[in-house]
Amino acid sequence: MKAVAVTPGTPNSVHMEEIAKPTLEQIPDGMGVLVRVLKVGVDATDREINDALYGNAPDGDDFLVIGHESFGVVEAVGENCKRVKPGDYVTATVRRPGGSIYDLIGHNDMTSEEVYYERGINLRHGYMTEYIVEEEEYIVRVPEGLKHLHVLMEPMSCAAKAVSQAYEAQQRMKVWRPKTAYVLGAGQIGLLTTLVLKLRGLEVYTLARGQAPNLKAEIAAGIEANYVSTQEKSMDDLVKETGKPDLIVDATGSSRLAFESMQHLGHNGVVVWTGITGGDDRVEVPADSINLNWVLGNKLLLGSVNANRTHFEMGIRDLALGEMMYPGVLEKILTHPVDGLDNYQEMMRLLVEVKDALKVFVNVAAE
Ligand code: BGC
Ligand code: ZN
Repeated sequence: MKAVAVTPGTPNSVHMEEIAKPTLEQIPDGMGVLVRVLKVGVDATDREINDALYGNAPDGDDFLVIGHESFGVVEAVGENCKRVKPGDYVTATVRRPGGSIYDLIGHNDMTSEEVYYERGINLRHGYMTEYIVEEEEYIVRVPEGLKHLHVLMEPMSCAAKAVSQAYEAQQRMKVWRPKTAYVLGAGQIGLLTTLVLKLRGLEVYTLARGQAPNLKAEIAAGIEANYVSTQEKSMDDLVKETGKPDLIVDATGSSRLAFESMQHLGHNGVVVWTGITGGDDRVEVPADSINLNWVLGNKLLLGSVNANRTHFEMGIRDLALGEMMYPGVLEKILTHPVDGLDNYQEMMRLLVEVKDALKVFVNVAAE
């Protein structure tokens, strides 16, 4: 069967591989799920893997099948599977366990080992192919009523984790009633994080460069957030209007903005960084001032990567609620479809050239 792959270490190596169709027997104890892939989303991670900034092939292979945002339909299950059945719509988690205690309890996203295993990213093949097989543990059911949001499940799981981590960490405060949040960046993670925070009842300001009207502003407004163009209003000026936010989530992919955001956080607040910055940008920051304010304000800086099964389930619940609250808004994120795995060059071109493509995804197969 066909699979879209890269040769790790070689820039711009995206190509087609012919690989064997996986079988249920590859998974022990009757716990396998065979999924027919319907759609796969791509994001900046795939672009940077194709730029050879990171990404490694599984042991014994010289190519890495890419794609970590999956959506498919169950074709067959092993005899001991309980959670899904043929015909169910599903997505799959991305990270696979290493050997740390966190991996042993299903929190692969929190591994304490330096090496991590991620399907489509590091040391494990991804989902940009026709069929995948996985342990039921890593397969998450997608409600039929959300199938039109298909490849958003994985990015949503990362947004759900980022916010839930902030709330968990803030248990240090005994009482934490955040009122105002800034979300930096209105790409897919920024917009989905905006939704998660709105559903938790916060006043959300979603900041991005572009001036309204544009699609990002339209989606942010559609979920009742305040869209702010940083070309029109600096973060300093916004703080003068809103007061310092209790929570800032950076989803810009720019380390410069991630650091800059630290100057605007309120006392006892949290900044969550979600951007994976593969470059080597260096910036000057007002280090004394940040240090001083950070200490005097008991502030917290939190990094958040990936998501485990629980976060997928949280994210899916929020998508369902979001769809009830704001019908028809979320699907506007799914901007750039590409038809068929054969069009992988077009997929990469969109990812590289269309700067404001909210979501490039491949229609792998029809239902
Ligand atoms: C993926 C995450 C992954 C991270 C780091 C992101 O694009 O969505 O699942 O953990 O990259 O590799
Ligand atoms: Zn991703």
